[in-house]
Amino acid sequence: MTAAAMTPTTTAPGRSSSRHLLALRGLPAKDLRSLLASARDAADTPPVVPGGLTIATLFFEDSTRTRTSFTLAAQRCGLHCVDLSAVTSSVNKGETLIDTALTVEAMGVQALIVRARQSGAAALIAQRVRIPVLNAGDGRHEHPTQGLLDAMTLAKAFDRLDTFDFRGVHVAIVGDIVSSRVARSAIAAFTTLGARVTCVGPASMAPASLASLGVEVSPRLDAVVDQADAVMMLRIQFERHAAGEPGKAPTLASVREYRAFYALTTERAARMKDHAIVLHPGPMNRGIEIDAEVADAARSRVLAQVANGVPVRMAALAWCLGRV
Ligand code: CP
Repeated sequence: MTAAAMTPTTTAPGRSSSRHLLALRGLPAKDLRSLLASARDAADTPPVVPGGLTIATLFFEDSTRTRTSFTLAAQRCGLHCVDLSAVTSSVNKGETLIDTALTVEAMGVQALIVRARQSGAAALIAQRVRIPVLNAGDGRHEHPTQGLLDAMTLAKAFDRLDTFDFRGVHVAIVGDIVSSRVARSAIAAFTTLGARVTCVGPASMAPASLASLGVEVSPRLDAVVDQADAVMMLRIQFERHAAGEPGKAPTLASVREYRAFYALTTERAARMKDHAIVLHPGPMNRGIEIDAEVADAARSRVLAQVANGVPVRMAALAWCLGRV
């Protein structure tokens, strides 16, 4: 299924002003900037959403950051939030994701936050329910609120909070890009807002075909690390390799070899531009794709990314419920 096919109409049919947030690819720059401006202002002026609404988080995959920050964002917007966990839901008895979503909708919630292992799951659910669906990460496809919080982190680091215009900013995204929904959403946001993006990794993880997304591709981190203004490291998603979805298993000779060429080690980080920042969506595997010293260094924005997740998700909820 193509990304376009996985992104049906963005309008949720139940309310004339409500929308889904399924992907950043294809979202116009004006919409990205509107969402980011709403998130920027959220601390002083929380986005207005109708009172008394209840949303539900449907997480069929593990999460620390996304789930918690959606819950906090809902609270700060004055929304009620109920959590449905795959561990305790009737999905374990064979109920489909769509039947689960229809069941929760029938109880009277006004939006669904969906995370699933299957690429396209949030879009499929959006085609069946009458309320807004926010994609909280679907397989290898997209993780739109992560892309937005990454863009917010970049805007803060490079003083672009007035314009959200990233022209002149060069971002390297490094690692297991074919497995990464985070990378897809970040690429969409960064390139739409004008950044130069270079994807770096072995051909099995960063194939030349990524150029169709408007990025450059390089197999050599050592050739890029001193050129970039921001270096985003990705976790190797072992769970999405051979045992996961078929047909797209990146080959990795050994973790030691991977580290030799693609880890952001202390030595490599020392070659970064003085002003350059380090990003990582988490969860990090310290000692594999990133050294602990780099993850905790002054140039690291890892916890800033997490912090930006709450206002970004407040803005996303307001946007989907029809108030941004
Ligand atoms: N970045 C991210 O999606 O983290 P979680 O899996 O903890 O939500």
